[in-house]
Amino acid sequence: MRLTILGGGGFRVPLVYGALLGDRAEGRVTEVVLHDLDPARLTAVTRVLAEQAAGVPDAPRVTATTDLDEALTGADFVFSAIRVGGLAGRAEDERVALAEGVLGQETVGAGGIAYGLRTVPVATDIARRVARLAPDAWVINFTNPAGLVTEAMSRHLGDRVIGICDTPVGLGRRIARVLGVRPDQAWIDYVGLNHLGWVRGLRVAGRDELPRLLADPALLGSFEEGRLFGPDWLRALGAIPNEYLHYYYFNRETVRAYQRAERTRGAFLRDQQAGFYAAAGDPDVSALALWERTRAEREATYMSENREAAGAGERDDDDLSGGYEKVALALMRAIARGERTTLILNVRNRHTLPVLDADAVIEVPCLVGADGAHPVAVDPLPGHATGLVCAVKAVEREVLAAADAGSRERAVTAFALHPLVDSVTVARRLLDGYTAAHPGLAYLR
Ligand code: G6P
Ligand code: MN
Repeated sequence: MRLTILGGGGFRVPLVYGALLGDRAEGRVTEVVLHDLDPARLTAVTRVLAEQAAGVPDAPRVTATTDLDEALTGADFVFSAIRVGGLAGRAEDERVALAEGVLGQETVGAGGIAYGLRTVPVATDIARRVARLAPDAWVINFTNPAGLVTEAMSRHLGDRVIGICDTPVGLGRRIARVLGVRPDQAWIDYVGLNHLGWVRGLRVAGRDELPRLLADPALLGSFEEGRLFGPDWLRALGAIPNEYLHYYYFNRETVRAYQRAERTRGAFLRDQQAGFYAAAGDPDVSALALWERTRAEREATYMSENREAAGAGERDDDDLSGGYEKVALALMRAIARGERTTLILNVRNRHTLPVLDADAVIEVPCLVGADGAHPVAVDPLPGHATGLVCAVKAVEREVLAAADAGSRERAVTAFALHPLVDSVTVARRLLDGYTAAHPGLAYLR
C-alpha cells in the first residue's frame, strides 16, 4: 500500500513514519512517497526517516519528489500536510493581527482567516489533481485551518477527504484520566467545528461521568483545561471546551499576553526550524537526534503563553505530542482493513447539526470502516455554542467565496464577520496588512 505525504519535508513527518514503523499487520503501508516544494527539506527529513528505519525489518520504503502529479499517481492514501507560506507566513499571520489589537493565532480569528485565504486555492488545486490522478485514493487532511481546508477539498473529493486534529482526542483522554476511566472505554460526546468544539458528556457503560467532574472543583483543578478555563466557568458552561476556545472566552487576556510576548509562536518555530533544517544537512550530525531535541523543545513550549496567562501550569510530560499520527494511522487502518472504530473527525455534516447545511464540514465522532467515516447522531448544541459555530462557519464560507472569486470584498467580509474582529475598519486594515505581507494573497482583487 502506498502513502503519499504532501508537505513531506515537514517537521512532523517523522512522527507519521514512526507510527508506520510500529505497524506490523497485514495490509500496512509498504511505500511512502514524500512530496515537497523544497528539495532541501526533503533531504533533511529523508535523513531522519532513514535513521528511524535502521534495523527495522521491512521498514516502508521512502522516496521523495518535488513533482506533485508524480507523487499523487498510484497513491492509495494521501496525507495533506502542507503549510502554504511556511512558518514565516504563520509568523506574519500572527504579527499583522496583533498589531491591529486582535488575536494573532495560527488557526483562530484573523490569523486563521489569512492562513485560510492563502491555503484554500492550493488545497483546491491538490483536490482537483487527486480527483483526476488518484480517484480511488483517500485523502487525510492535516492542513490547517483543518475544517475549512477539508471543506474546500470536499467540494472536489466528496467524502473521500477526511480532516483530522489531535485536540479532541487529547481532551477526551485528559478528562477520562481525571475521572479514573480508561479512555478506550469512554464514549466522548464532542461536537463543533475544528478547534471550536465542546465535550458535553463522557459515558462509560451508558452512564455520564461528566457531571461528577463538573461538581468537583478539586478534580476540575487537576487537569489542563480545568485550570485553563477555571472551574467556575466550566460549571457555568456545563461542558469542557476545546483548548482553542480559550481564545474566545479569554480573548483580551490572550491578545495582551501575545502582544507582550517576546516572539509569537510562529516566529519562535520559524527560527527554531530554520536551525533544524540548516543543521540536518550536515553529514556529521545525527539528523534523528537533532530532530528529537528540536521536537522536545517545541512540545514543551506548546501554548505556553496561554497556560502561563491562565496560571494553568505545564502540560504533563506524558501528555505531550497530541497524537495526530495516531489518529491518522487508526483512520487509515479502519478504511484499508475494515477495522471498524470510532474517531472524532472533520467530515461533512449531513444532518448531524441541523443548523448547518449538509456540506458544511464539522468535527464530530464518526463510525469509520472500509466505506469511510460516518458522523454519529449527537445531541444538539446549546444556543451559545450554536451561535459561535454558525458565526465561524459563515466566516469560513466567506473565505471560500473570496478564494473562488479572487475577491477582496469577500475577504474583508470574512474578517469583519468574525466574532473576534470588532470593527469593519479593522477588517479592511487587516486585509491590507496581510496582502502587503503575503505574496500568496496577490490573487485577491
Ligand atoms: C495542535 C493543533 C494543531 C496545531 C498545533 C500547533 O496540535 O491541533 O492544529 O497546528 O497544535 O502546535 P505548534 O507547536 O505548531 O504551535
Ligand atoms: Mn488541530
